[in-house]
This record gives sequence, structure tokens and C-alpha cells, in this order.
Amino acid sequence: SSSSSSSSSSSSSWAPKLVGLCRATSKEDARMQMAVYVPPHPLVKHFMSIARNKDTPSAAFRSAMAELGRLLLYECAKDLLQTVDFEVETPCGVAEATFVDPSKPVTVVPVLRAGLVLVEQAHLVFPISRTCHLGYVRDEETLEASMYLDRLPKQFTSDDLVVIADPMVATGGTAINVVRDVLDRGADIKNVRLVCAVCAPPALTKLGEEFPELIMYSAMIDPELNDKGYIVPGLGDAGDRAYGTE
Ligand code: URA
Repeated sequence: SSSSSSSSSSSSSWAPKLVGLCRATSKEDARMQMAVYVPPHPLVKHFMSIARNKDTPSAAFRSAMAELGRLLLYECAKDLLQTVDFEVETPCGVAEATFVDPSKPVTVVPVLRAGLVLVEQAHLVFPISRTCHLGYVRDEETLEASMYLDRLPKQFTSDDLVVIADPMVATGGTAINVVRDVLDRGADIKNVRLVCAVCAPPALTKLGEEFPELIMYSAMIDPELNDKGYIVPGLGDAGDRAYGTE
């Protein structure tokens, strides 16, 4: 026998910090509609601190970001993955068994380059998944993001589960484009998650205005951007630090 069930973040044993649950009454309030989960987990803080330290060598930075990614994806899985119930025979009897629903694979969308690091362990968290890469590059003068690689499927169904990974959500330019790309191909915002290491208020305001139903997971919300569009204090250029480039 089998039946479907889905887990929900409200059954979480510890309460994630949730930015906003109430519906906005004006555009200015819109950011308060979007939920940003910041897991108050000691390992999230630990790996975030390693990543923030400017003296952390590239290899250790990359490992820390991969661990952060795994922890954030794990949190995200709790509210996204659907399960099916069966029975299994153990060596000593019969047990109720719950598996991740194989008919509901997760599409993981890393935004190159730095998104790759965040999803390095995604296969451990999402046993049934595929990875569809998107490449965006930011013009350092205008801070505008433009796409240079598109490996998204031509069409999603509205049931498809999509997890976007973009470690540094600063101005929101890239993240807005990527969420739009995914929705334009037919995904339903209710089944889309955006996972990042650090985000900042300018991006949250813009994302909240564009996608009030979006759910985000972030290790940290930092206060501001500098004049080059970097998050302060942030962790610098995540792609360069992960890959040892300048
Ligand atoms: N991209 C990065 O890698 N770091 C930032 O602080 C902002 C954008």
C-alpha cells in the first residue's frame, strides 16, 4: 500500500527565523511578504565564519561553502520534498517506511560560478535530482547581470520542484533574472526555493516586490552593500575565493 504525504517547515523542532509572514498592504511593505529562513544552527554559524575570514585559503573556503550549502539544502528539503509511505521487511519484522517520492525529482539550478560550490553536496540531500546550470555575469560598472549559459529545461510543469543556488544575493539583479527564467519556463513560484549564503536588504526588497511568494534560505542577512555592489561585511567575491582567481 502507498500514500502520499509532504513534510512542512511548521513541524520543525526548532523555529527558523522567519522574515515576514503577514501580507503587505503597499509596495513598500512587499519585502515583508517574502519568507527568508535563517537557520539558527551552530554549524551554519561555524562554516559561515570560516567563509567570511579573509585569511581562509581557497580550498578551505570551498569546503566551508559546500558544507553551508548542504545544511541550507537540508533545511530546504524539509519543506519541499514529498514522500511516499510503504512497508519494508527488516531482518526481524515489518516496518512502516517513508521514502522520498521518486516521481517528484528536484531540479537544482546552480548559478555559475559560485553557485556550483553551494550545490557540491546536493546529491546527498536530494537523492532524486538533476542539475541544470545557468551562467550569469555581472557588469562591474552598471552591476547589470546578463546570461551566458542556459541549461534549463525548455519547459517545467507547475509541479516541478526547483531549487536555485546563488551564494551572494546582493543587488538582487541576478537572482531576479534567474527566478524569472524558471517561472517563464512554467515552474510555479510555490515550488521554487532560492538558497544563498549571504543576502542583503536591497536584494530582499526587490525580490519581495517581484516575487512575494518566494521562499528563501540564507545563512546570514547582512546590513548593506558597498559602492561596488559587494555585501558588507559579506565574504568578498565568492567565485574568486572558491576558485583561487582574482
Ligand atoms: N557577488 C559576490 O561574490 N560577493 C558579493 O559580495 C556580491 C556579489
